[in-house]
Amino acid sequence: MLGNFKYSNPTKLYFGDKSLDFLSEELNRFGPTVMLTYGGGSIKRNGIYDQVTAILHEAGKTIVELPGVMPNPTVEKLMEGARVARENNVDLILAVGGGSTIDYAKGVSVSAWCDEDPWEKYYLRQESPSCRIIPVGCILTMVGTGSEMNGGSVITNHNQGLKIGKVFDERVMPRFAILNPRFTFTLPHYQMVAGFFDIMSHLMEQYFSGDDDNTSDYLAEGLMRSLISGSRIAVKDPTNYEARSNIMWTATWALNTLIKCGKRQDWMVHMIGQAIGAHTDATHGMTLAAVSIPYYRFVSQFGTDKFARFATNVWNIRPDGKTPEQLAHEGINALESWMREIGVVMKSSELGVNEQNIPAIAQSTILLNSGFHQITHDEVIQILHASL
Ligand code: NZQ
Ligand code: ZN
Repeated sequence: MLGNFKYSNPTKLYFGDKSLDFLSEELNRFGPTVMLTYGGGSIKRNGIYDQVTAILHEAGKTIVELPGVMPNPTVEKLMEGARVARENNVDLILAVGGGSTIDYAKGVSVSAWCDEDPWEKYYLRQESPSCRIIPVGCILTMVGTGSEMNGGSVITNHNQGLKIGKVFDERVMPRFAILNPRFTFTLPHYQMVAGFFDIMSHLMEQYFSGDDDNTSDYLAEGLMRSLISGSRIAVKDPTNYEARSNIMWTATWALNTLIKCGKRQDWMVHMIGQAIGAHTDATHGMTLAAVSIPYYRFVSQFGTDKFARFATNVWNIRPDGKTPEQLAHEGINALESWMREIGVVMKSSELGVNEQNIPAIAQSTILLNSGFHQITHDEVIQILHASL
């Protein structure tokens, strides 16, 4: 643990199948006008909308509805939300949904009273908010992103071919998050397993970096083992509460700023995945799945010892008589087998990537230098070709 870091996290969590009971208590802390934001209608079909609005009415709140947050929320939708929030002078933004809706709520919270162009200020220039910030609370219905307990907000600008994440500071992180595993039972299988892979990817992005002996890596290994175990149960038995609740808790801790402590972190799988998303609008977790195996097969040569440790500590591969290279290889094979077992997309061509759009996707890929290797533009192109 050789780095210097600050750790604090202001989000209060309520977890379990009774967690919605605590919403009214939280609502008392905020003013009378609540912007209720949600996605394309799943919360109306599964009854969560009725439960939440009943509690809001009972608390005497004025509800301003902002429905229709699409997966991979767009900059146009962000501007609509900012206008509605400002016109109604809302006191709290309550996001009910998955990462898209919660990311969106954070974007609106810092854009409503912003006098500059929010896309340029926060996402392109990566600046911090200097205006009034509207508090955000959330009720999570899809597990994966960790948005419920972090400052991340990813917005897509289709005109510019860019999908960019901004990690806002503690002022923007949800004040409270309600995590009821039962609320995730109605997720379609495709979304459920995309979320599972997103969790694994968050863990790997932070794990595959650095070479010091670091408690964060031991935490990541434990979370990976829990995810692998729970996911194997959940794909066969999606309403298994124990498995789904473990996965929900794992997802939150996978990306709530804890396991990045003292880590450089990689995040190149996410950079390539987000570039694919900007051009295809594909499901986030699947974009990561499609490029992970080619990426890790390439990059493992620069961090062989860590990949060997991944094989033994995460996948229980016996090290006897094997070289670190062999072990690293077997660890990635085990990852690939698990991905096939849970049923994620293994080829980017299934998401709309092809020979023609690879140059543009590579052009949209932000190149970071914090994992085991400083990747180049040409290497991104090679990885994208290998992912087809
Ligand atoms: O829109 P509705 O009708 O609600 O349907 C959604 C959506 O179609 C559906 N869904 C959610 N909960 C459901 C449900 N359907 C039935 N029953 C339920 N209980 O699932 C679909 C996907 O939802 P979405 O919110 O888009 O998925 P996810 O949670 O994966 O969020 C993806 C977004 O988060 C960003 C991604 O880039 C993407 O834009 N990320 C945010 C991060 C962060 N804040 O730190 C980090 C991640 O790496 C990621 O980049
Ligand atoms: Zn992700």
